[in-house]
Amino acid sequence: MALKVALLGCGVVGSQVIRLMREQADDLAARVGAPLELAGVAVRRPGRRRDTDVDPALLTTDAEALVARDDVDIVVEVIGGIEPARSLILAAMKGGKSVVTANKALLAEDGATVHAAARANGADLYFEAAVAGAIPLIRPLRESLAGDRVHRVMGIVNGTTNYILDKMDSTGASFSDALEEAQALGYAEADPTADVEGFDAAAKAAILAKIAFHSRVTAADVHREGITEVTAADVAGARAMGCVIKLLAICARSDDGRSFGVRVHPAMIPRSHPLAGVREAYNAVFVEAESAGRLMFYGAGAGGAPTASAVLGDIVAVARNHLAGTRGPEESTYADLAVHPMGETVTRYHVSLDVADKPGVLARVADMFARQDVSIQTVRQEGHGDDAQLVLVTHRADDAALSATIQGLREMDIVRDVVSVMRVEGEDIA
Ligand SMILES: NC(=O)c1ccc[n+]([C@@H]2O[C@H](COP(=O)([O-])OP(=O)(O)OC[C@H]3O[C@@H](n4cnc5c(N)ncnc54)[C@H](OP(=O)(O)O)[C@@H]3O)[C@@H](O)[C@H]2O)c1
Repeated sequence: MALKVALLGCGVVGSQVIRLMREQADDLAARVGAPLELAGVAVRRPGRRRDTDVDPALLTTDAEALVARDDVDIVVEVIGGIEPARSLILAAMKGGKSVVTANKALLAEDGATVHAAARANGADLYFEAAVAGAIPLIRPLRESLAGDRVHRVMGIVNGTTNYILDKMDSTGASFSDALEEAQALGYAEADPTADVEGFDAAAKAAILAKIAFHSRVTAADVHREGITEVTAADVAGARAMGCVIKLLAICARSDDGRSFGVRVHPAMIPRSHPLAGVREAYNAVFVEAESAGRLMFYGAGAGGAPTASAVLGDIVAVARNHLAGTRGPEESTYADLAVHPMGETVTRYHVSLDVADKPGVLARVADMFARQDVSIQTVRQEGHGDDAQLVLVTHRADDAALSATIQGLREMDIVRDVVSVMRVEGEDIA
């Protein structure tokens, strides 16, 4: 007997799910052990042109009624956003249906509610497409690495910002010119806020940290800085250091293992680091685990067909579980580690200062770092006279001490301008 799938949403991702279900119907049936049949497709505007052929008889604007149908076995949510997606998923689970979703925003904001409903109703919840599109990442973390201890997950999880930073690096373009190009090519939305301010990456970081560290994390726990302040001068400064700037999502255990930090911000990484070679709109995630060592996951982080590939993989898994009368892994938060504040995160800074051309300037600047207990690894002077810039790179220190140092430097009369401040990451790997 066929397993019936209700699809909620038929946009960029949903239309490709329909196409793949149709084109690969025989293979999917063989892999699952029963045919998969589309029971209905909920949309907002039924008359809209779709990227694939959809039987008009399947379209409905009544998503609630579709989810409630007795003959539906699996609900696939690719609407996005918090509501009505959450209510529809909860209703599906209440009816004992398993759910596949690509909804990072919902899982990062209120994943606990959705996971609790899955557990209470004996339903599956699969969400491979929610982080880094086509790249298998959730299942490797949730299942393949379930026997290991993950120390750090560090990745490029937003294609739009990677495209912009890559253009700034390869052409010397400003942020706004690179953004304009990304918009013209369809890599950035007309309103790019969610991407360039780091909200999208922060949602993904929260989901990854929760799985990696078996602890509760929401988007609100993530320290977030976007890339709108990254200048061509920052990019040139990185280049001079043999580095490239990337927007990184970093989930890392503290040295004592009792807490972890979750953050999204631009950072310099050495060009020899595996993540430095991730160009254009690609995504990649670097995982460090106790026994597995260093792993890297790379590929297309978005797009209709790549994301639909991840959704289809989840549909097959959920369908197999359904037929076997079993379930996939539940939410795992047993470790209950605390998320430490950004100030306690240990980082390094690269700082460029426009300073007065006077004797004793370097000593006074160095003293400001020493007062916060931040030690300087290298100092370089660039230019002469009125154009002189001091470029300093620190050793590892608490982020709070580094921010206090920058604040102090801004207030010094000999510092005309703090030209650039950028965290430095990944030198232990490069
Ligand atoms: N696009 C990607 O590359 C990508 C990658 C990874 C994850 N995701 C995630 O996948 C999900 C879907 O993204 P998308 O890019 O496919 O979005 P999209 O193109 O905007 O499609 C959204 C779909 O939901 C439908 N919809 C909206 N409100 C609805 C409602 N109240 N009831 C029923 N249907 C409704 C829309 O109907 P109409 O078509 O009639 O307007 C549309 O078909 C999101 O959670 C997103 O974060 C997307």
